[in-house]
Amino acid sequence: MITQEQVMQVLSGVQDPELHRSLVELKMVRNVKIEESDVSLEVVLTIQGCPLKAKIKEDVQNALRGIGAENVYVSFGAMSPEERASLTQVLKKNSTTESGMPSMLRHDSGVRFIAITSGKGGVGKSTVTINLAAALARMGKKVGVLDADIYGFSIPSMMQINEKPTMIGKTAIPVLSHDVKVMSMVFFAEDNNPVMWRGPMLNKWIQNFLANTHWGELDYLLLDLPPGTGDVAIDVAAMIPQAKEVIVTTPHNVASHVASRAGVMARHTKHDILGVIENMAYYEESDGTRNYLFGRGGGERLAERLQTDVIARVPFASPVQAAGTSVYDEDSLVGELFRSLAEDVLYKDAQ
Ligand SMILES: Nc1ncnc2c1ncn2[C@@H]1O[C@H](COP(=O)(O)OP(=O)(O)O)[C@@H](O)[C@H]1O
Ligand SMILES: [Mg+2]
Repeated sequence: MITQEQVMQVLSGVQDPELHRSLVELKMVRNVKIEESDVSLEVVLTIQGCPLKAKIKEDVQNALRGIGAENVYVSFGAMSPEERASLTQVLKKNSTTESGMPSMLRHDSGVRFIAITSGKGGVGKSTVTINLAAALARMGKKVGVLDADIYGFSIPSMMQINEKPTMIGKTAIPVLSHDVKVMSMVFFAEDNNPVMWRGPMLNKWIQNFLANTHWGELDYLLLDLPPGTGDVAIDVAAMIPQAKEVIVTTPHNVASHVASRAGVMARHTKHDILGVIENMAYYEESDGTRNYLFGRGGGERLAERLQTDVIARVPFASPVQAAGTSVYDEDSLVGELFRSLAEDVLYKDAQ
């Protein structure tokens, strides 16, 4: 005979697929009835028309069959506004400290921050962000990306994300793409107008994005910062002093010169520099010869100036167009390059 306790016990191992918390902890299970070896129950959902119903049902059924249930009847209900509010509290309790600071910023949070910067736009900062994120995720790390480049929030379109985050009260569930949790201001911007993001308002937004997003467990959070040394870089440096910085440049002199300002800034703000990534470093012809379209040595000069290393040289390459994303295929030349970069990052962190 199956007992109520057994049912709740086994369901505490079943997670909400979006919130990654157990259905029991989230108080989503109701009206459990047991007759002989049949179990019926109701699952209350956070949002109406939850697209993950089928998955939840399957997981619940499998779990209960595991303890000998023959027929499992799952019905769905919706949370009342009060229940949603209390769920928001449960989620929030874990994402902010008592003083309201995003708890991921605490030194013992276990989250490592990597800020991707450049001297100017168009050098491949976002490309590096998403490909490093995807590579870390492929290695089993829990990875988030915060798209904070006010001059063009491009991460969702580059990762081919068409949906918006699910909202539970004021808490946003990041959108998952390539196993990376993605948050972008563009999800909330009416018209992607950069001007409105300047100054203190922007500062607040970044803090909000850290605190009011249900990131769940994270090993890494990558931040795609605006180019240059503007307000955002300063705010982020003050807010996340433990962030390590990756500086992206092209081999071109001018670009690397401008990029060095971002690096000087990094030293100024005590961010450690992980290294320089030289993007669009060369084009490899089909016979294997390398064509240095943008010249050579820019990455090295910049690294020298910043007393750091060039940690990757990324060639010109098109991601698989059919897939429509700027995330390079795992087995492609660039995909492999980012895997080895991700390995370096893990190695350095383990030191
Ligand atoms: N290694 C590369 N090979 C080919 N195209 C690239 C490469 N890196 C970036 N791109 C393309 O160049 C453009 C600018 O890159 P992006 O990552 O958006 O730069 P940023 O974020 O610095 O403005 C994008 O269209 C991107 O797809
Ligand atoms: Mg960009």
